[in-house]
Amino acid sequence: MKKFFSVNDITDLHTIVKEAITLKKTPQQNNHLGKGKTIGLVFLNSSLRTRLSTQKAAQNLGLHTIILNANQEAWTWEFEDGAIMNGNTVEHVKDAANVLSQYCDIIGIRCFASLTNKEEDITEKVYTLFEKYAKVPVVSLESATLHPFQSLADCITIEEHLPKNKKPKVVLTWAPHIKAIPHAVGNSFAQWMNQTDYDFVITHPVGYELDTKFTQNAVIEYNQEKALENADFVYVKNWSSFQDYGKVIPVEEDWMLTNDKLRGTNNAKIMHCLPVRRNVEISDEVLDSENSLVYQQANNRTYAAQIVLQKILENHE
Ligand code: CP
Repeated sequence: MKKFFSVNDITDLHTIVKEAITLKKTPQQNNHLGKGKTIGLVFLNSSLRTRLSTQKAAQNLGLHTIILNANQEAWTWEFEDGAIMNGNTVEHVKDAANVLSQYCDIIGIRCFASLTNKEEDITEKVYTLFEKYAKVPVVSLESATLHPFQSLADCITIEEHLPKNKKPKVVLTWAPHIKAIPHAVGNSFAQWMNQTDYDFVITHPVGYELDTKFTQNAVIEYNQEKALENADFVYVKNWSSFQDYGKVIPVEEDWMLTNDKLRGTNNAKIMHCLPVRRNVEISDEVLDSENSLVYQQANNRTYAAQIVLQKILENHE
């Protein structure tokens, strides 16, 4: 593997999920692979899970880790090629990516959607420029449109909890939030689910349709109760409007996931990438129930990152 931006960078989803589950049993067994090498983790946005799980994965492989909170600790980056930098930006991303490549053998970068410039977000302007100028493999720690380490961890978690003798029904349900949230987790989950043979349904209010580039032929059901019928897994996530880009469109019905909403499911397992707004997106009773897989998902972030970094290191031995 040379880079990791989306599901398109893996050869076979089922195989990599199985490999991650296997390495979870002996996570230190390949700690020679990263010996003498360094991974740089660059954050233009906040993080708990991605920061620590990728660091832990790197350490399990023997990699040294450098973390740069670029928006707080570094010079302000310029993203316009040919810019006359006589304003507030101090360092061009061209120079930053080149310099980071002098210190690192792999670089991870987190660069969320702005939610203000749709064109720049959907074309992944920031990520694409960084990757263009980096001289080493780049992995996404969540970009404007996708969150591949999260989706791989989600696939691992589902695989570990599959119902017996049955193709699972997986429902991605929109949930309320108090602010505008990017589409990356929802897009990415849809993209990865579309690579499986699971029954995959997306439910959300009218006006919250995700980009069809990622949902493709997934079933869209606007009635949440109907969508949840017989679900084995319910993945809860908020996102802002894609059509009315970045806006929070008022919704009359209550879309928060509660125990009551789960009655028609097949004793569904509950998933969320975290952080979660308790009692806004999901009720405490659901999050704290034995069917909640949210901490297992967070744990699997380490093994999702580790299997990807391992494949990149093996490719560069
Ligand atoms: N799920 C996730 O990516 O968490 P962080 O934003 O805390 O990294």
